Amino acid sequence: MLEVKDLGLKLEGKQIFNNISFSVNKGQIVAVCGPNGGGKTCLLRTIKGLVKQSSGTVLVDGKEQDASERLISIGLVFQDADVQIVGETVEKDVAFGPRNLRWSEEKIKQSTEEAIRILGMQSYRKDRPQILSGGQKRCLAIAGVLAMHPQIVMMDEVFSNLDYPSVRMVLDAILKLKKEGIAVVIVSHDTDLFLAHADKVLIVDKGESVYFGDTVESLDVLKQHSVHISDIPLEKMTWL
Ligand SMILES: Nc1ncnc2c1ncn2[C@@H]1O[C@H](COP(=O)(O)OP(=O)(O)O)[C@@H](O)[C@H]1O
Ligand SMILES: [Mg+2]
Repeated sequence: MLEVKDLGLKLEGKQIFNNISFSVNKGQIVAVCGPNGGGKTCLLRTIKGLVKQSSGTVLVDGKEQDASERLISIGLVFQDADVQIVGETVEKDVAFGPRNLRWSEEKIKQSTEEAIRILGMQSYRKDRPQILSGGQKRCLAIAGVLAMHPQIVMMDEVFSNLDYPSVRMVLDAILKLKKEGIAVVIVSHDTDLFLAHADKVLIVDKGESVYFGDTVESLDVLKQHSVHISDIPLEKMTWL
């Protein structure tokens, strides 16, 4: 579904990341891990098409897409969920993206309903976004992206500043996207929280891809790159 080939980004003469390659299939979760400042956020923004890459290509569904096409085909949930909230109520907020795409009323309604259903937000759909819990706000940001029908959803530090029930709520939402056949890319430095649910792991350190492969084998590489990992077996690492 998503194929990133030899992607590189230079900003103001500085190489932010270079030669990054990985792929995500339908219904797969790829975890992007690595120390802070390694280039994870810049990588997501580049894949999404918010900044133009300096080298490499991004293929969606087997076809190379330029940055402007990717703005539509690839969804990105930003690190700060609050900046994505614009609607007066939860349901109006979810409908905002589809409305911006100038879809028909019928299609806006359908996609909004679908996103609310998938994320299990029915009980607070009429609430003002400002009163939601951290986890509910994060789910709202995910629903807003999902309602625009992207084939790929990427999330930046989606677990930051969340309490235990909220982490569970967001993890649960991510597994629902997987079940819907969406290709999911999760960036987080709290690797312990979701590694058990990842199909593949990409490790980025100092702008270089140091590992892309199976989750179990990634554990040693993560430790070598100073990413905190519990000493419990991977299958027990889940918070669900
Ligand atoms: N607009 C920019 N111009 C120049 N350097 C930047 C810009 N944005 C980020 N950087 C640098 O790129 C590097 C990677 O940052 P980032 O992608 O935020 O890392 P991570 O998300 O892994 O913590 C950092 O050294 C940061 O200072
Ligand atoms: Mg970041």
